[in-house]
Amino acid sequence: MIKVLVNGASGRMGTEVVNAVTNDPELELVGAIDFKDNLASSIANTKPGVVVDFTVASAGYDNAKTIIAAGVCPVIGTSGFQQAQVDELTALAAEKNLGGLIAPNFSLGAVLMMKFSAEAAKYLPNAEIIEAHSTQKEDSPSGTGIRTAELIAEARTQLPDPTSDKELLAGARGAKLNEVPLHSVRLPGVVAQQTVFFGGLSETLKIEHNSQHRTSFMPGVCLACKKVVQRQDLVYGLEYLLD
Ligand SMILES: NC(=O)c1ccc[n+]([C@@H]2O[C@H](COP(=O)([O-])OP(=O)(O)OC[C@H]3O[C@@H](n4cnc5c(N)ncnc54)[C@H](O)[C@@H]3O)[C@@H](O)[C@H]2O)c1
Repeated sequence: MIKVLVNGASGRMGTEVVNAVTNDPELELVGAIDFKDNLASSIANTKPGVVVDFTVASAGYDNAKTIIAAGVCPVIGTSGFQQAQVDELTALAAEKNLGGLIAPNFSLGAVLMMKFSAEAAKYLPNAEIIEAHSTQKEDSPSGTGIRTAELIAEARTQLPDPTSDKELLAGARGAKLNEVPLHSVRLPGVVAQQTVFFGGLSETLKIEHNSQHRTSFMPGVCLACKKVVQRQDLVYGLEYLLD
């Protein structure tokens, strides 16, 4: 049995993680904590093999450092990580031979959407991303949107055709990452959606993913808890644990 401590357990994602871990026969829930609890002492008291963190963008990095410093495998779903922070956490985990995961999206369908987008980008380099989340999301664009833009840029074999970016209203063309425009929609009622739009000669391709409910992320979270304890490195993206 893999012992799991959940941080951010009172939140929308944390509540689902507590249920999923409780119902998984290979996982044992040893603690469910939130912002009033001290993470380091909770780890010392409950001795988990894995800490799952779904808190807030402003706390995720410090929480990940605390988990790694305690010699425990982190499974981080909290969004808002900068590349330099991921690099530093990867190095800290490597010093301790610790497995870990930071995943901008735990939904298996969303990981496939990113994989298919990278494949499409080899042939259709002009792409734009439209992502939608609830009004309570703290950060924009989403981590999934950023990761998708990175994967598209890495996979491209040619530069996209230039487009006119003259804006009559500031922001009309979205934010650009590696020449991929990213548009963020924030609406009540949305859980997580993303459409990746590709255009070529007289054709378009749309790859779309919808998370209908937060349970869509749970098979990925439980899988990650089981896989990180077998690894000696921290990876960024659930795709590294799938194949
Ligand atoms: N990776 C994914 O697949 C995925 C999916 C959905 C949401 N998210 C991200 O997960 C995070 C949580 O989302 P949510 O919808 O559950 O938010 P939420 O606001 O419902 O829950 C966050 C919880 O964290 C707690 N918290 C805040 N600061 C804390 C701290 N320093 N230590 C411990 N607990 C703290 C809050 O009290 C709250 O209970 C966000 O960053 C969100 O963007 C990631």
